[in-house]
Amino acid sequence: MRALRAFLFTLALVGTASAADDVSLKIDAGASGPKIDRNLFGQFAEHLGRGIYEGVWVGPDSSIPNTRGIRNDVVAALRALKVPNVRWPGGCFADEYHWRNGIGPLAKRPATLNPNWGGVIEPNTFGTHEFMDFVQQIGADVYLSVNVGSGTPAEAADWLEYLTTAQPTALATERAANGHPEPYAVGMLGLGNESWGCGGSMTPDEYVNHLKVYARYARNYNAAHPMRRVAVGPDSADTSYTEAVMKAWKNRTWAWDIEGLSLHFYTVVKWPPAYEATGFGEAEYASLLKDTRRMDDLIRAHGAIMDQYDPDKKIALVVDEWGAWLAATPGSPQGFLEQQNSQRDAIIAALNLNMFARHADRVRAANIAQMVNVLQAMIFTQKEKMLLTPTYHVFRMYVPFHDASFVPVSVAAGNYTQGDITLPRVDALAARDAAGKLWLSLANLDPKAEATVNVAVAGARISRALGETLAAPKIDSVNTFEAPSTVAPQPYSAKASGKTLPLKLAPASVTVVALE
Ligand code: AHR
Repeated sequence: MRALRAFLFTLALVGTASAADDVSLKIDAGASGPKIDRNLFGQFAEHLGRGIYEGVWVGPDSSIPNTRGIRNDVVAALRALKVPNVRWPGGCFADEYHWRNGIGPLAKRPATLNPNWGGVIEPNTFGTHEFMDFVQQIGADVYLSVNVGSGTPAEAADWLEYLTTAQPTALATERAANGHPEPYAVGMLGLGNESWGCGGSMTPDEYVNHLKVYARYARNYNAAHPMRRVAVGPDSADTSYTEAVMKAWKNRTWAWDIEGLSLHFYTVVKWPPAYEATGFGEAEYASLLKDTRRMDDLIRAHGAIMDQYDPDKKIALVVDEWGAWLAATPGSPQGFLEQQNSQRDAIIAALNLNMFARHADRVRAANIAQMVNVLQAMIFTQKEKMLLTPTYHVFRMYVPFHDASFVPVSVAAGNYTQGDITLPRVDALAARDAAGKLWLSLANLDPKAEATVNVAVAGARISRALGETLAAPKIDSVNTFEAPSTVAPQPYSAKASGKTLPLKLAPASVTVVALE
């Protein structure tokens, strides 16, 4: 019935007159797809540069307004994003992290090193309880990564017992003495990070041997809060970990299991990262957008392998590191991965989120790298000041898509061409929220031309669109502490004309509207 209705709808639209270069977009309001898991909008906070220290943690004695050492301005900004989960403590840092260094009285915590990221001192003042306090303050779930590279299964098992058991064990008693008698909830557990690289340079088979042990012993004892275990998976297009982990999972015994497989893919074009974050031209803009769209190929390629071993899609593909990795800000400390964030990053964020949503049956969690002051960040801080980036605004505009049901759209977008790069001019995502409201996100990739999208909705009477649009004076426009609102969302509305709803999109913009 649904298919017939969609077919008749398509027939009815054949021959609809529109200006030659208008985009036509069709939505069948009755069709619906999988849930767009809110965990697709997850964040990643590593002990790296100013990501945690200064970005989140200023300490209880700081003059910067804070709650138990965690800065209030950053918490308020993140609450507005309804962050579903935060991945912590890394990244590469996780495979050198020893959790016992980060519990107990602050004054007694040892100073250690952070060899991955600038070789700086790690004061361990932000540890387990501070992280748990932070996620509770922002209302997010926990995505913890245990140390497989340089730790032991016993260390990981103890951490999980310390966190999650309600029984009066020695570890639970220690947790209570450190201020938290109640067990914590851990929603996701990463079993290592990039074990093919900084996490131990393991072959796929070596990693699988570790995986089985960690998946068995790093147990969640908090039955009220289920925990999904996420295995290390592919580095970009390399399918060797995907094959090995999925094959092992298919042949698993009663003694171990996993619920997710990680994928890491950065928009970078080539390593080492050399694309400038500001002052770039249209060629660099188009090149990074093209590279971003590789995410779709990767999800399809790894998804196809996963389908062979897991046709029921029990294992989630978890894209727990993604985003633009650009040349570091000149003058920033080496290894701190600081980069500006422009309107191009806003488009990159929207393209990625749309791709994840289109594969929502398999991709059920993702984490942008990273949350504050690092890589494609939501937020920059400078001492007591805080700034929201264009990427932040996209994440805030996408809140209606959290846990909404995917609604398929068909778009005749035409092309945006720059040099030898040709991309679809408009990228679209539609979904229905829990209250039944239909939402549409549209990204106009063309930086030189406005796009008019003629929206036709079958099965619902739409009279207007109401929402926000994020545009900018230039593709490399950024927000700075001197001019924090150069790129900021503006209210957007449009009225239907007959059976179509024409939406005008500014060049290189992201628009999110409710269709009413
Ligand atoms: O996000 C920065 C680093 O990128 C992470 O620590 C690592 O996992 C990846 O290589």
